[in-house]
Amino acid sequence: MNAPDLTILVLYYSRHGATRKLAELIAQGIESVSGCDARLRTVPAVSTVAEAVEPEVPKEGAPYVELRDLEECAGLALGSPTRFGNMAAPMKYFWDGTSSQWLSGTLNGKPACVFTSTGSLHGGQETTLMSMMIPLLHHGMLLLGLPYTQPELMTTSSGGTPYGASHWAGVNGTHPISEETRILTIALGRRLAQTARKLREN
Ligand SMILES: Cc1cc2nc3c(=O)[nH]c(=O)nc-3n(C[C@H](O)[C@H](O)[C@H](O)COP(=O)(O)O)c2cc1C
Repeated sequence: MNAPDLTILVLYYSRHGATRKLAELIAQGIESVSGCDARLRTVPAVSTVAEAVEPEVPKEGAPYVELRDLEECAGLALGSPTRFGNMAAPMKYFWDGTSSQWLSGTLNGKPACVFTSTGSLHGGQETTLMSMMIPLLHHGMLLLGLPYTQPELMTTSSGGTPYGASHWAGVNGTHPISEETRILTIALGRRLAQTARKLREN
């Protein structure tokens, strides 16, 4: 079997696991495209106690992202739980440490998409998705959403938007991923990988 020749970074933060489930579906979509490999990475939590440090390897889930992952990827899927209608602080903290990659254009011209999970249905899925796009636009990335040719966008009553994938996890995080969300999230990962491949061929 040939080694994958395109690595797509799936970078997420997840405190209780809902956003992580979406990340795994995005990865499934990416790996449905021939020659594309999903690299799942996360970011450490931030603490109000300045001395607190996380262990080098997380107890569970993906390894922590390294700045070289930004250089090595051909595209990026970025996910965060919704926190007051915005991306979570650990993810924002990570992006605040990427000035050098911004200056050197590490991500410039690479495709990207975004995904989120919320406690309530109208609690800010779309604002969070838009908030995650902002640093990616500053980095020169090419943002992808979901097209309405995906029929699930018209029928979903849980998550899934033209701005990116989303999951309504419920107040206690107990909602399973709906069928519409599952299909749309995989489709977004596939779209990202197909776009990265087309850009690489040009
Ligand atoms: C500080 C904080 C703020 C939150 N703000 C929102 C919010 O604005 N809207 C919403 O629907 N859910 C909100 N939630 C709920 C999370 O978005 C939701 O539980 C999400 O599914 C968690 O994802 P995770 O399982 O990947 O950690 C908030 C949770 C926390 C802890």
